[in-house]
Amino acid sequence: MLLNETKNGLENINENNNEKKVPKHLAIILDGNGRWAKKRGLPRLMGHRAGLRKLEEMVRLVKREGIRYFSVYAFSTENWNRPSMEVQGLMSLFKFYIKHKVKEVKAEGARIRFAGRKDKIPEELLGMMQWAEDETKDENILDFILCINYGGRAEVLDAINKLRHDKTIDLNQDITEQDLRKYFYLPDVPDPDLIIRTSGELRMSNFWMWEGAYSEFYFTDTYWPDFNYDNLKAALEDYAGRDRRYGGLKK
Ligand code: FPP
Repeated sequence: MLLNETKNGLENINENNNEKKVPKHLAIILDGNGRWAKKRGLPRLMGHRAGLRKLEEMVRLVKREGIRYFSVYAFSTENWNRPSMEVQGLMSLFKFYIKHKVKEVKAEGARIRFAGRKDKIPEELLGMMQWAEDETKDENILDFILCINYGGRAEVLDAINKLRHDKTIDLNQDITEQDLRKYFYLPDVPDPDLIIRTSGELRMSNFWMWEGAYSEFYFTDTYWPDFNYDNLKAALEDYAGRDRRYGGLKK
């Protein structure tokens, strides 16, 4: 695949110089770390570490494919229900990533952003998340969005509760989608075009619930730590052949 530098960033072109249908926003549900570890007789946390290494590789590949927004479901509002050792291990992994990898991500031209509720996240990690966002805020090749303590239902509820306090909105009138969207975690980010879920599970699990209303889905049995460039290309090829009608009729 070839990349063409334009004023809007990188655009894909194929060998005939025609634009290729590439998702502007790719989202991935990173699933199967635990089973990947179990298969190898390793503790679950080793699976999450392997998952993080895979994610680092994937950021570079996704950028190379000309994708502008890349979001990943790293920790849901429901994941707090896991054993505390696993939760703490994941929080430590997020801190490790920010401390040691943000510079590399920035060098790729990627802006790091977080989506999710801020409550329950340890104070130290919250500060580091803010630092990572500030440090990379001027990068504009790729927005790399980490969904941590994210839940689609929580996002909609949080937006409604913020909107209730907006004095510019007349709550006696019907509110619009635009009114609500203004209060989402990342209102400027376009809806995901393609959502990939690894590990063979066929669920949305409260990810991009509103934004994913018209997303295309791609499921693979591959556990996240085993997901590779060929898997990514297969998903993108599949997406390129999809006919998106948004409830309308075929043109
Ligand atoms: C789901 O697989 C995965 C998670 C709950 C965690 C995903 C986190 C990472 C890959 C690390 C990401 C790191 C950063 C810095 C974003 P699972 O554990 O539920 O797998 P299982 O269904 O096989 O048990």
